Amino acid sequence: MVKSERKTLSNGVTVPAIGFGTYLLDNAQAASCVLDAIQDGYRLIDGASFYHNETGVGQGLCQAMDEGAKREDLFVTSKVWKDAMGYEQTLESFEKSLADLGLEYLDLYLIHWPFGDPELDRSTWQALIDLYKAGRVRAIGVSNFMPENLLPLFDMEIVPMVNQIMVHPGWKQETVTDFCRQHGIQVMAWSPLGRGRVLNNHLLRQLAQEHGKSPAQICLRWEIQKGFIPIPKSANAARIRENLDVFDFELTPDQMQALDSLPPME
Ligand code: A2P
Repeated sequence: MVKSERKTLSNGVTVPAIGFGTYLLDNAQAASCVLDAIQDGYRLIDGASFYHNETGVGQGLCQAMDEGAKREDLFVTSKVWKDAMGYEQTLESFEKSLADLGLEYLDLYLIHWPFGDPELDRSTWQALIDLYKAGRVRAIGVSNFMPENLLPLFDMEIVPMVNQIMVHPGWKQETVTDFCRQHGIQVMAWSPLGRGRVLNNHLLRQLAQEHGKSPAQICLRWEIQKGFIPIPKSANAARIRENLDVFDFELTPDQMQALDSLPPME
């Protein structure tokens, strides 16, 4: 299994082509699943203050590093939640996430959702710019930002390097993903398995059979070939491993197009 594929962000920092998502894991699950994921070969671990499990994620990271994983090989993400937006609160929330995770720096810090008030988004973004310039985080970006949310940030010193949005077969989000591509913003796909709900789709099952893979692996392969970075979440050790095993096959252009044409499935 090839586990070393990476994508390069606009600032030159490289990111693993797939990550492990931690949403909905409690602290105990996060600790054991993050450790499992790193032992399996994941290097990108995606979290957020809103997930209320960063101490658990931190325990998993710490144990993995005790067992030989190197901090510089890991790529750890967090996000500032809506209730901490604004310049000063964002800086405080960053420090809290870092302390909970037990880390000295983050690899990626994101604004979790646009607030809907461009001035608040801009003051929050200024805090991320200052954290980046101070070397506290290696890359910065946003999450769930549509083009109209991104545009007010474009006259600031740094343009987001990443936009993390919900994408999966049947939920292509073409307007925002095309916009991000045009502006050099890397798309990360949350809910890349459609929260597990799209996995019974007939086409996904048929392609899974043709490739000797699972429907989940077909979803993840589609996202990788679209140029996105999927961050599947699982609380199950076998499925965590399965979701990383997506680098030994390729979907044909016809198969990609068929998946592109699926009707909307949120
Ligand atoms: P579980 O945690 O029991 O594995 P998403 O990342 O799109 O939000 O999807 C997460 C959901 O998909 C979770 O309910 C998770 O359940 C399930 N899931 C994760 N990986 C797989 C897989 N390989 N096959 C089937 N279901 C999966």
